[in-house]
Amino acid sequence: MAGIGVGIIGTGSIVHTYIKCLSEMDGVRIVGLCTKSTDRVEQVTAEFGLPVYSDYGSFLALPEIDLVCICNESGKHSEAIEAAAMANKHVLSEKPLEVTTEKIDALIALCDKQRVLLGCVLQNRCSTDYRRAEEAVKSGKLGKLLMGNASINWYRSEAYYANSNWRGTIELDGGAAFINQGIHTVDLLINLMGPAVSVFANVQTRVHKIEGEDVGAALINYENGAIGTITAGTALYPGYPERIEVYGEKGSIIMEGGIINSWNIRDEETPKLSTESLGSGAADPTAIGHQNHKVVLQDMVEAIRYNKKPMVNGEEARKSVALINAIYESSRIKKQVQL
Ligand SMILES: NC(=O)c1ccc[n+]([C@@H]2O[C@H](COP(=O)([O-])OP(=O)(O)OC[C@H]3O[C@@H](n4cnc5c(N)ncnc54)[C@H](O)[C@@H]3O)[C@@H](O)[C@H]2O)c1
Repeated sequence: MAGIGVGIIGTGSIVHTYIKCLSEMDGVRIVGLCTKSTDRVEQVTAEFGLPVYSDYGSFLALPEIDLVCICNESGKHSEAIEAAAMANKHVLSEKPLEVTTEKIDALIALCDKQRVLLGCVLQNRCSTDYRRAEEAVKSGKLGKLLMGNASINWYRSEAYYANSNWRGTIELDGGAAFINQGIHTVDLLINLMGPAVSVFANVQTRVHKIEGEDVGAALINYENGAIGTITAGTALYPGYPERIEVYGEKGSIIMEGGIINSWNIRDEETPKLSTESLGSGAADPTAIGHQNHKVVLQDMVEAIRYNKKPMVNGEEARKSVALINAIYESSRIKKQVQL
């Protein structure tokens, strides 16, 4: 089969990761990029040495494009995904798939109707240590799950927000610390613990001049009876590696900065644990490696080739956004919210 042609919508910082991954992969070729910021076309063409389009119409009419990667601002993912799906292209979107579940539901329905695949990049699901933890928890090694906690107590500078017209805004970021930075860890946590059924939360904007929250805490009740907490922030200097704790009747697993640093299961020898931390975006948004993105892209290409479901499809990507939206709603109405 001929290679898969890939087009990218959005030309910001994350696009460098895509270009790096795709240029290392066999059987794919980058057809071009598209940015709605017409003043960027010249600069981006020079930067990437690839054709750059400034309107979705002519870009998505290219028959060589099979897959469109969505890398524009989070709250504009749906306009880009809708255009790609209507042009009968498969879609792989950056996280969050969109900033509200209403928009996500419409995207899932549209992609189903158009018979195109819809995948989302929640790349931390691919890390070796996470997969090891997932296998242990899902195979019941920890026994009945009792508590699942996560913290994404990160820091972003004033410039990080000041130099962006979308980060930290409700319309285009959907909020801030939970939905932009925290979503990866929230996704990992609920994938281990199972669905949350209710949440009581308090989020605040204490330091940064943004609409969204830069500090927040949530108390979670899971469907399986377990409880837990999630805290997130981007004002928590200097920013600490994100952490996931899963406690079960038979033992517990703790991950920090993407690696397992505690594995204690009753009557089981502790396996050899990694000592080298993966890159964490705790203080620096550019400190995220590209290997996990490459696994996601490879999975999406395979899904297209063999007509399979992508690793994180629309329904999977919806779960973390639903919980984060419930956290925001609980904080707004100062009451527990059911999911
Ligand atoms: N999976 C991850 O770990 C990860 C990491 C970073 C970003 N993301 C996601 O990727 C998406 C894009 O994030 P980003 O960090 O690339 O955002 P960005 O601000 O760098 O770029 C966002 C958009 O703004 C445009 N843009 C960038 N610089 C511009 C300029 N100087 N003038 C005019 N327009 C400009 C780009 O074309 C792009 O479409 C978001 O949805 C974000 O959540 C995911």
